[in-house]
Amino acid sequence: MAIKPEVNIGLLADQLAALALISEAEPPQVTRVVFSDADMRARAYVNGLCAEAKLQLKVDAVGNTFARWEGGNAELAPIGTGSHIDAIPNAGSYDGTVGVLGGLEAIRALQRAGFKPKRSIELVIFTAEEPTRFGIGCLGSRMMGSVLSPAAARALRDKEGNGLDNLRRHAGFSGELETVAVRTGRFHQFLELHIEQGPLLEERGIDLGLVTAIAAPASLRIVVEGEGGHAGGKLMPGRKDALAAAAELILALESLARSTGAVDTVGTVGICEVFPGAVNSIPSKVRLETDIRDTDGARRDGVLEGLKLACAEVAVRRGVTVTTELVNADPPTLCDVEILAALEASAKEADRTWQKMVARAYHDSSFVACIAPVAMLFIPCRGGVSHRPDEYASREWIGAGVDVLARTLARLAG
Ligand code: GLV
Ligand code: MN
Ligand code: MN
Repeated sequence: MAIKPEVNIGLLADQLAALALISEAEPPQVTRVVFSDADMRARAYVNGLCAEAKLQLKVDAVGNTFARWEGGNAELAPIGTGSHIDAIPNAGSYDGTVGVLGGLEAIRALQRAGFKPKRSIELVIFTAEEPTRFGIGCLGSRMMGSVLSPAAARALRDKEGNGLDNLRRHAGFSGELETVAVRTGRFHQFLELHIEQGPLLEERGIDLGLVTAIAAPASLRIVVEGEGGHAGGKLMPGRKDALAAAAELILALESLARSTGAVDTVGTVGICEVFPGAVNSIPSKVRLETDIRDTDGARRDGVLEGLKLACAEVAVRRGVTVTTELVNADPPTLCDVEILAALEASAKEADRTWQKMVARAYHDSSFVACIAPVAMLFIPCRGGVSHRPDEYASREWIGAGVDVLARTLARLAG
């Protein structure tokens, strides 16, 4: 008989609102950088809720948290669900958190409905999906999927030069980083609920997005070194202004991303750090952090190569030094047809409208895909707005997502 979970949307909305108040920035802005005080308080809040739901908590050496609802057959690999609770500076309240607190409410709704899963259901709260602190996204899931080695993780530093290894130990996550990687089969299947972070579902009045593929993200760090000097004394001929050179590279990326002709290609420079950063001083050094994505990995790589060529060309023409470092270049992820079929059946059963779509943002699911079949379930967000304080998903949208998530977890867990 089909299970009929009753989602307590009032409780979930209150918990999302309470989590949003745990922030380094003034509400409604949400800033929760990994291993910050706000991140640690948010973890404590969510762990407390998991304990109230009688889930067994485990934490790995980098802080990935696993909250398990034990199934009837301990031999069977669990079904995973979850997302992240870290937030970029000045973000909103729903990115990641809907998958974590919504995943928890899905479990609670199944518990209330008297469902007894055969497979355990595990809620996973991944460490640092956002690249804010260490410059690389999906840190926890990337390590779980062995895409980032323990040695490479140890080499990561934040802007102040603090190493990941020290910071995570200081935050209370002990054990060796070698223990974070998990084997294939650790999860039978994994399903992540998330806001769309794009406008399509809301525009079309559709309740749910069934994600068939996750776009391939890449990041190239570019350092331009020129010649500093007095902004008044040094005349224009012969200048080697690092920022003027970097400006050409920013525009080169924009033009490369536009020139593929595909709406799926996007290129962004989100960080431009200028040294010495004084109004009357010619910039001598600039660091750019770029973000390039596409649903087609080869096309994304074309943009990446084009950008490297532009770096070489600008360096010669302007007499500056340009060095590049590839931070990551991840392949696109294909979602699992079996989980998608279960999602479709659950959406139909719940009388919800849905469409298949691709995820243009990246997600922890991309890296869980290295060790288990994955899929994602999207709900609309107003105006497609995300990574901004005015990010918003209505109770109705969230409730529909959690309802279908719960039904699907029940199908998958048996
Ligand atoms: C994740 O937040 C992303 O930038 O896609
Ligand atoms: Mn995000
Ligand atoms: Mn997210």
